[in-house]
Amino acid sequence: MRMVDMIEKKRNGLNLTPEEIRFVIDGYIKDEIPDYQMSAFLMAVYFQGMTAEETAELTMAMAKSGDQIDLSKIHGVKVDKHSTGGVGDTTTLILAPLVAAAGVPVAKMSGRGLGHTGGTIDKLEAVPGFHVEVSEEQFIGLVNKNKLAVVGQSGNLAPADKKIYSLRDVTATVNSIPLIASSIMSKKIAAGADAIVLDVKVGSGAFMKEMKDAEALASTMVEIGEQVGRKTAAVISDMNQPLGYAVGNALEVKEAIDTLKGNGPADLYELCLVLGSKMVVLAGKVQTEAEARAMLEEAIENGKALEVFKTFLSAQGGDASVVDHPEKLPDAKYKIPVLSEADGFVEGIAADEIGTAAMLLGAGRAAKDSVIDLSVGIVLRKKIGNEVKKDEPIAIIHSNTEDAAVSARKVLKAFKISSRRPSAVPLIKG
Ligand code: URA
Ligand code: CA
Repeated sequence: MRMVDMIEKKRNGLNLTPEEIRFVIDGYIKDEIPDYQMSAFLMAVYFQGMTAEETAELTMAMAKSGDQIDLSKIHGVKVDKHSTGGVGDTTTLILAPLVAAAGVPVAKMSGRGLGHTGGTIDKLEAVPGFHVEVSEEQFIGLVNKNKLAVVGQSGNLAPADKKIYSLRDVTATVNSIPLIASSIMSKKIAAGADAIVLDVKVGSGAFMKEMKDAEALASTMVEIGEQVGRKTAAVISDMNQPLGYAVGNALEVKEAIDTLKGNGPADLYELCLVLGSKMVVLAGKVQTEAEARAMLEEAIENGKALEVFKTFLSAQGGDASVVDHPEKLPDAKYKIPVLSEADGFVEGIAADEIGTAAMLLGAGRAAKDSVIDLSVGIVLRKKIGNEVKKDEPIAIIHSNTEDAAVSARKVLKAFKISSRRPSAVPLIKG
């Protein structure tokens, strides 16, 4: 086989066989296919697309390009969850103990990565003593015992995806549904998930701005799951404003604790119930989402989810007393209110602007080796539909420097205030 023929075939809109797709991925990861040919191939895919069979083959070829985590020693159906880039998305911290309380094993591999705030591991490290340095054997033991453990991600998970993603980033080929879908699914499959629940965000702060693109991405990923024998379900949720109120590491841990106590923000709680219900059903615990939802609501009401969270924190060295004493979490020195410049109603909150404002305070990494400040971030005071008065706080900046003017300007710019009350936006869109 020759790479030039694969490029020509795809350019002409023909379908590649499974052998041909494996040839492309194997050749690229072994450096037998150069970047310039791969770039041309990716651009051909960008314009011509891929069939469901091609996309599934591409996913599996990338999933098999590095380590494949074996979770078979964990009892039960391992369900993983993935969200496509929310801002201040605290759902994992809540969902993990919540579904674990319903008996679903959660064997979570998480990264640190770049972004507006840290990843799940960074957030959890806001709990004094908490660490993810556990051996594979300990990890499996903890999940079997407590139904929940979190470990750092292997450096060699789907390396073909990593290499291709870097190339897509500089060749204007990121925004292709088969390429995004296979990229996300390859990593989940390599991480050992039996079943996958996807939260596809749509709106101004999301990758997918339009509903039809979000639907196409969601159904492509569900189809990949079906093709490769992993039960997969997807939800499309709104990202025209950050989820919940808190954006920042310790701030989100506190928000997660509040939610597990039943006092969380309504949108965050609802999304956790919707995603969690799907996870419980895919794990085979109950037949219907209504039954699953009732189980999860009960686990919040009777404190079981909170108990699981405490046990999980202690088992990985964390001080579980933060759950009852959140004031023990890292706290920023200055709390600076951002005041509205007008009377009116909040019509939208550009989530990506709020995310960038949090990152500038030190909540996230701008570069791979940046050090995160776990205490800083932004807490919204107003959300879409709320009335605001001039000079009333719309958000509070938690900062360790007295001057947070750059972030304050970004927060102000993120809020769209209009004179008329906007109609309510549904959180779950599909
Ligand atoms: N996230 C991924 O992991 N891959 C993509 O291609 C896009 C978003
Ligand atoms: Ca949040």
